[in-house]
Amino acid sequence: MFCRRSMAGLWRTASGLTKKGKYPLIGSNRALWLSSTLRKKGRPNRQSQCRGGKREEIMDPNCKVSRPWGAGPGGQQLGTKSPTSQKPPEIPWGRVSKGSSECLQVAIVTGGATGIGYSAAYKLLKHGAKCVVISSRRKEKGVEAAEKLNGRFGKDRALFIQGDVNDEKHFRCLFEEPIRRYGQVDVLFNNAGMLEDKNWQLAVDTNLTSLIRGNFLAFEYMGKNNNHHGGIVVNNASIVGLQTLHGAPVQTGIRVVALCPGVTETVLVTDARGKQYNPDWGKEAERLLSSLPTQSTSVTGLAFVDLIRYAPSGTIWVIENSQLLRADLPDRHSYSTVAAKYK
Ligand SMILES: NC(=O)c1ccc[n+]([C@@H]2O[C@H](COP(=O)([O-])OP(=O)(O)OC[C@H]3O[C@@H](n4cnc5c(N)ncnc54)[C@H](OP(=O)(O)O)[C@@H]3O)[C@@H](O)[C@H]2O)c1
Repeated sequence: MFCRRSMAGLWRTASGLTKKGKYPLIGSNRALWLSSTLRKKGRPNRQSQCRGGKREEIMDPNCKVSRPWGAGPGGQQLGTKSPTSQKPPEIPWGRVSKGSSECLQVAIVTGGATGIGYSAAYKLLKHGAKCVVISSRRKEKGVEAAEKLNGRFGKDRALFIQGDVNDEKHFRCLFEEPIRRYGQVDVLFNNAGMLEDKNWQLAVDTNLTSLIRGNFLAFEYMGKNNNHHGGIVVNNASIVGLQTLHGAPVQTGIRVVALCPGVTETVLVTDARGKQYNPDWGKEAERLLSSLPTQSTSVTGLAFVDLIRYAPSGTIWVIENSQLLRADLPDRHSYSTVAAKYK
């Protein structure tokens, strides 16, 4: 199975480029980088060139998809530089911690009684937050966590509110209580989550539906459009939101893969006007969509057939601008600068 967070992770994140085994693996950022490089150079819109294997030509004259299957080991990537040889981008954390202590003032950490959430609450208080609201379903865990935090940082710095993020009333209370006390909320860490495939409906409700609800509640209770200050929402996803667990469905004999189409000419896109959160958002969505390359459904249909034929289980594919690209994490070495910060 795709991990519980994989779809949400894809929704929120982008990956880079690496090359592994038979296929060149290209993530969305890099894919965009590659295609823009190719456009600038006026080269044909091909993502890889065949060396060891045979490239299949596509019979539909209106539809060209460049396929990575043909590229054997060592298949050449188009584009002059190897993206992995580029200098990793600077991490802008320095800027964040310098300029924005006021955006650390009042925070909500769902699932903040234990684990990653508790540690986030602890660090927020250590770095000057006025108050952190933590939530969880288990009362004893939450009370214990709040006592520990208040013991360490002072009275009323941590506020435990027991409840379930699947209950909208509870989630609203997580915002309303600190707003009543302090007049604002600056940070939402959407962290509560579970890892329980057997109970997948509850897992989807908790990990995805509630997380999306949290974002919309943050717009309502924190958004400048609603006379608040703005702030930040951090959605806790997972490494397996970027990388699927290939092995899970092996026993079933069923391959499970994901297809991520780029902008495709259908009514979903052409009739999108007026269906967004607000008119500004609608305009922004329109601007974004029109800046992206468009493709026909004939292209997505072909990509679909290709996946059925060739895609290994647990893989994620982007079909954009008539290029079919496999999405995967970049080479882990490119994380070394980030990792060094935590040693
Ligand atoms: N640990 C990892 O390797 C890892 C890696 C990537 C991402 N994550 C993500 O990080 C988040 C925190 O996980 P963790 O590793 O710190 O595990 P954890 O200690 O089990 O934390 C999960 C917290 O969420 C709370 N929670 C679960 N369901 C809830 C609900 N419906 N309403 C309110 N609170 C709820 C739990 O408390 P109650 O059960 O008392 O409600 C618990 O305090 C999760 O979203 C997880 O998917 C973890």
